[in-house]
Amino acid sequence: MAFREDFLWGGATAANQCEGAYLEGGRGLANVDVMPAGVDRFSVGSGEMKMFRCDDDHFYPGHEAIDMYHNYKEDIALLAGMGFKCYRLSIAWSRIFPKGDELEPNEAGLQFYDNLFDECLKYGIEPLVTICHFDVPMHLIETIGSWRSRQMIDHYVHYCEVIFKRYKNKVKYWLTFNEINMILHFPFMGAGLCFEEGENKQQVKYVAAHHELVASALATKIGHEINPEFKIGCMLAAGNTYANTCHPADVWKSMEKDRENYFFIDVQSRGEYPAYALKQLEREGIEIPFEEGDVEILKNHTVDFISFSYYSSRLTSADPEVNKTTDGNAFETLKNPYLEASEWGWQIDPLGLRITMNALYDRYQKPLFIVENGLGAVDVPDANGYVKDDYRIDYLREHIKAMKEAVELDGVDLIGYTTWGCIDLVSAGTGEMKKRYGFIYVDKDNDGNGTLKRSKKKSYDWYKKVIESNGEQLA
Ligand code: BG6
Repeated sequence: MAFREDFLWGGATAANQCEGAYLEGGRGLANVDVMPAGVDRFSVGSGEMKMFRCDDDHFYPGHEAIDMYHNYKEDIALLAGMGFKCYRLSIAWSRIFPKGDELEPNEAGLQFYDNLFDECLKYGIEPLVTICHFDVPMHLIETIGSWRSRQMIDHYVHYCEVIFKRYKNKVKYWLTFNEINMILHFPFMGAGLCFEEGENKQQVKYVAAHHELVASALATKIGHEINPEFKIGCMLAAGNTYANTCHPADVWKSMEKDRENYFFIDVQSRGEYPAYALKQLEREGIEIPFEEGDVEILKNHTVDFISFSYYSSRLTSADPEVNKTTDGNAFETLKNPYLEASEWGWQIDPLGLRITMNALYDRYQKPLFIVENGLGAVDVPDANGYVKDDYRIDYLREHIKAMKEAVELDGVDLIGYTTWGCIDLVSAGTGEMKKRYGFIYVDKDNDGNGTLKRSKKKSYDWYKKVIESNGEQLA
């Protein structure tokens, strides 16, 4: 058998994309709540257009999302029906600290996640918790400018301490930041950063990243102190970058592109800023505000495992003429003529997953956890409301095969696999409901209409068999 006996099969979601109930239970406003659907989403998400409050001219799909807040029992029962061993979810920071800087947490928020974890544990489902899946309490954005301020470290660490203590007997696996490299690509949605005119954006992003990296290491430290059994991981939006040709300049460019993302994990896993990054920051005149103790904190509190999302490989060229972009999860990439693409232009590359797994395992020599993978597609229910999503089954099958090869043939140590959006939810990139990833269909459209009724797709029964057979039965 390729996968270990205790392999963590399951699925993943994020609070802001599924919970809804954005102001219930004492929850405070967060950056993810002011992300509109439609044309302005990109400008807001990238920190170019300031939207600190909701207005009547926009639709905010996260406010209700799929209302998992009120339906979590039904939803977890459905996940359990597939035999899930693991459910990756995130805690909404502003449910626990509505403003972000309070001393005392909001009990109603804590209780909600207690109930959620109890429900998972009832079915033997191991929760894998993302502490921060893009969200930042709006109050911290308005008062201190989010992660550009060093004070964020204290607020985040306080938040971590509270949830670590509260859930120390219910949760073992934690991720400090979802797709930490997203700060470079979608800085407001990814880290609450909004830019002032004329500001050096690179400087702001890397300073904020430094604060996140120190916060992540401190969280790892206190997590291990609170429960030495905790496994705390980092999380990278991964996907190796290929060179467009065998021209050495293209190969060099692809290496640089990968390093842009590896940088974060190099710090979180190896415990120090890599030489190439120090040199590049110096060249660009970017000063990182290292304070006393930072070097030791980063060095002494590295992560236990490496988690990542993988949807696609990327392609780049050193020739600016050639380097015209196509869509790809906020990551620029050329069109690869050897690959097909999803309806949203995301290129489909199962072998790229094996390549990415090997690259990460070679580099870090720590267990890997694939915490996101999947196909965003338009699902059309038939007259009986059934979705025959063979395209999704094909996508997942091919990726699981590649993952199996990485384990069986290459010896990569893999802890688990949680597919993205196991129940349909709001797309982070576009704000659409139409871009669905789930095994469970949720009746809701892009404009917010629908009954929210849940129903099993064809892939539901397929994935159940995959889990039952520990990845042996993929047909
Ligand atoms: C990852 C995020 O970037 O990709 C998720 O961690 C996101 O939050 C997922 O939903 C898929 O992207 P999208 O844009 O299709 O929702």
